[in-house]
Amino acid sequence: MELIKVKKGHEGNVAAVLFADEIKALARPVIGLATGSTPVRMYDYLIKRNQSGELDFSKVCSFNLDEYCGLPKVHPQSYYSFMQEHLFKYVNIDQRNVFFPNGNAVSLAEECSQYESMIQEAGGIDIQLLGIGHNGHIGFNEPSDIIAKETHVQVLADSTRTANARFFTSIEEVPTHAITMGIKTILNARKIMLLCCGEGKAEILKQALYGDVTPRVPASLLQLHPQLTVITDQNI
Ligand code: F6R
Repeated sequence: MELIKVKKGHEGNVAAVLFADEIKALARPVIGLATGSTPVRMYDYLIKRNQSGELDFSKVCSFNLDEYCGLPKVHPQSYYSFMQEHLFKYVNIDQRNVFFPNGNAVSLAEECSQYESMIQEAGGIDIQLLGIGHNGHIGFNEPSDIIAKETHVQVLADSTRTANARFFTSIEEVPTHAITMGIKTILNARKIMLLCCGEGKAEILKQALYGDVTPRVPASLLQLHPQLTVITDQNI
């Protein structure tokens, strides 16, 4: 593991430089992306680099980690909308190469296995970006006694719904379920970049990086990955 500690507010730039280098090094980069507050500054820098002609997205294929179940794709809080607003609509990515699990599929089980196959057909993920929840979740893999390996439907933890209620008008509007890549899907990425910034994540990050490897702290399973880079402004 490589741990990069940065000053508050600097993680976006540092992460964007490293992520852009990965994209530039590959002929047909397959990237895994995350939503939430954490990657927003990094996406801003990627947009700047794309618009200045330094970084080309035309050959990039992207798979997002997760999507809520039951929200229309165009709902302002769907992860599809989030990615359009924070990255895709400002860069020269081909929208046909942008993939999300469909949380409105008639058969969610089929959708999950199809998403898994699509990632494999694309050649697997070259670099996966992750944030971390206060409860240690990655993607929407919530703390559990078992490891959900592949893309699956996840019941969201109350603490996750409470945390994400800031994006909705009330907690009742926050979906109760989401489709998420599983732990194995995530660990199959050739490289992983975990970004951890914001208030109050030092303790869970410490547990994830140096504590027991356990599905009770899903991010701790990242200790098993040989090419993990962690960028954080937390005091750990
Ligand atoms: C988002 C995702 C989540 C977030 C995590 C942190 O696609 O999968 O695991 O990365 O909940 O969220 P923020 O960045 O809002 O603190």
